[in-house]
Amino acid sequence: MGKLAGRSVISIDDLTNEEIYQLFELADSMETNESTFNRSGTGRIAATLFYEPSTRTRLSFEAAMQRLGGGVISTWDMNASSAVKGESLPDTIRVVASYSDVIILRHPWEGAAQIAGEYASVPVINAGDGGHEHPTQTLGDLYTLHKQHGNLRGLKVALCGDLQHGRTVHSLAFALARFGADVVFVPGENKNIPTYVLHRLERDFGATITEKGLGILSALFGQRDDDENTPEVNAIYMTPTKPNQLALFPQEGAKMDFRISASESLSIYVTRRQVEREEKGSKASSGYPRITGETLKLRPFKNISILHPLPRVDELAPEVDKDPRGLYFRQAANGYKIRMALLHSVLGLDSEEKQNSVIGYSRPAKEPIYIGNDFKCVNSLCVANKLSEFAHNRFEIFRSQNYVLRCLYCDHESEPPFVGNIESHIYYPTHFLDRFRPFVKVTNLRFFTSAQEAQAAGFRPMSASPAEEPTLEDTKTLNDGSWIHAIHSS
Ligand code: CP
Repeated sequence: MGKLAGRSVISIDDLTNEEIYQLFELADSMETNESTFNRSGTGRIAATLFYEPSTRTRLSFEAAMQRLGGGVISTWDMNASSAVKGESLPDTIRVVASYSDVIILRHPWEGAAQIAGEYASVPVINAGDGGHEHPTQTLGDLYTLHKQHGNLRGLKVALCGDLQHGRTVHSLAFALARFGADVVFVPGENKNIPTYVLHRLERDFGATITEKGLGILSALFGQRDDDENTPEVNAIYMTPTKPNQLALFPQEGAKMDFRISASESLSIYVTRRQVEREEKGSKASSGYPRITGETLKLRPFKNISILHPLPRVDELAPEVDKDPRGLYFRQAANGYKIRMALLHSVLGLDSEEKQNSVIGYSRPAKEPIYIGNDFKCVNSLCVANKLSEFAHNRFEIFRSQNYVLRCLYCDHESEPPFVGNIESHIYYPTHFLDRFRPFVKVTNLRFFTSAQEAQAAGFRPMSASPAEEPTLEDTKTLNDGSWIHAIHSS
């Protein structure tokens, strides 16, 4: 585990599959040999900074740190901190880093943990950044699934509920794709999984995404699968690896609905509606997946296991609690154990690990990176928009249908329609980059959200002076995305 010492955990992508398995092993051995570990953190301090409410995440981290023999400093009501006087997150982080050995941060802005990691001199652990990610919840979820099934590869997992705002779902989907699980997304009405998450699953993990009928999962909406009143919800199915086999849709033909035999196991991960992230005035929809005692009586659900990150509201009936298929309280307990293993590893509490500390680690982005300057992320909740004077706007560029800029704070994607060359001060439609690929370095690009914006920045449209830029005849059009590497290496 030495490689984790001194590293921040901002995204589940910051941990390799092997490191996650090692955390499982460490958590297991902490359970069986508690006395070996309970003084290992003596003299160390964890700071918990929670700008949003929490029960499980904060208390489990604090309990874990105390079990390791360390101390905790905490600001759990930010109204009682200098944040109310206008102190910025980066300032708070720099100060708290000088009092502590690790910072555990929950914040409503997406990418907040990333910016904290850029300013902290100690590792930062993301305890939830808005609707973006919640990697340590995912560690507890994976640990629970692994304990239950002995494996993660080939698991069938239905992620249900508020997939739009559910940060636990986003981190878990990325991890399940990496571990080779089959995932079916079952959103509540208007609570679809965001496009940027699906794109990342396809692009970074090679997953294939298809839309299918709900089939037996209609039962989560209180309907039979042949019922005409089934809600306006489709299942989104993710196959993690190639070749893509529709393991959850064995039947042939046009009607591809979710099926599972009574002998197969399915893990159903239920989430609550995240009302705190909805726009004011949003109406509750009736089409929201729920599990009740009646759901459990259905034959196809005989071998399910039920998970929930908690807290629950009404999507998981209390009558399910006494059923052995419900794993959610065990899941919360597992979250505490895996967080103890994570703290032990990040703090480098084995003597060998201390020597390997690499403060300031954050997940590597794929090249090329566009340094945004004036270009703004499309997500109004992105920390780069909230703290523009502190953020270092950076975007990963990739070629999809169009050129896409992925914000390296919050992962949201923009498709700017225009791009300019800062040497010639000429701008053109972004897809023209296919033509200009051999001639333009990424550091010379400037993206614009409108022609007016380009002109206000002193750029001229290409048509006004066509001879100044290379033409189609001069170059070869490439649509395979390889221009990116050409630009970077030029
Ligand atoms: N699952 C989870 O993050 O719970 P809390 O909000 O109580 O920390």
